[in-house]
Amino acid sequence: MNKQLLIAGNWKSNKTLAEAKDWMSLFKQVLPVIPKNISIVLCVPFTVLDFFHNQITLAAQDVSPFETGAYTGEISAEQIKEFADWVLIGHSERRKYFLEDDRLLTQKVERAKEKGLSVIYCVSDDSMKIPGNVDVVAYEPTWAIGTGKSDSPENANAVCTMIKKQFQGRVIYGGSVTDENVKNFVNQSAIDGVLPGGASLNPEKFVDLIQAAQS
Ligand code: PGA
Repeated sequence: MNKQLLIAGNWKSNKTLAEAKDWMSLFKQVLPVIPKNISIVLCVPFTVLDFFHNQITLAAQDVSPFETGAYTGEISAEQIKEFADWVLIGHSERRKYFLEDDRLLTQKVERAKEKGLSVIYCVSDDSMKIPGNVDVVAYEPTWAIGTGKSDSPENANAVCTMIKKQFQGRVIYGGSVTDENVKNFVNQSAIDGVLPGGASLNPEKFVDLIQAAQS
């Protein structure tokens, strides 16, 4: 396959530091060299960013809508930039459980871009607003997330094609991606990679997925 694929593993609110260390040592054992046509980004909790820094390309899973300052509990883009080059913004779990709306998400994108972070921005269909200057859009239908029921590759491709009519950048698919179905998604013309959640938690499964994608 000639296309450069982006595989972004989303750990969500999983793994202690000790578990992250175990993950990394096994990951390196089973995949000593990352295939040339694959870019991997690991979206990990803030608490393990420091450990992974300089070992793998990293994304934070959230960013403050404010600059550094008196915003208790928030992590600013400036602070993230010390450890990670990317940030995931607009995941449906943030929208659902933390009531994040388009206005707030646009502020987060602005703060991230001001500090030079690249943004993966999640939408659940092609009608959702995409803030200007995000780097990658992830199409993730909410019903497919964590359910084991992925979208069909053909429908995902149709939605990603629609997204590309309003967004000039890479578009990836997420929602129950596994080593068994990844190839069907990345074979689609408008799909530039995948965003696996559950399938990124086990390093051997994640490597199976990477190898299946590039085969
Ligand atoms: P899943 O999660 O692969 O476990 O469905 C994907 C995501 O929420 O990004």
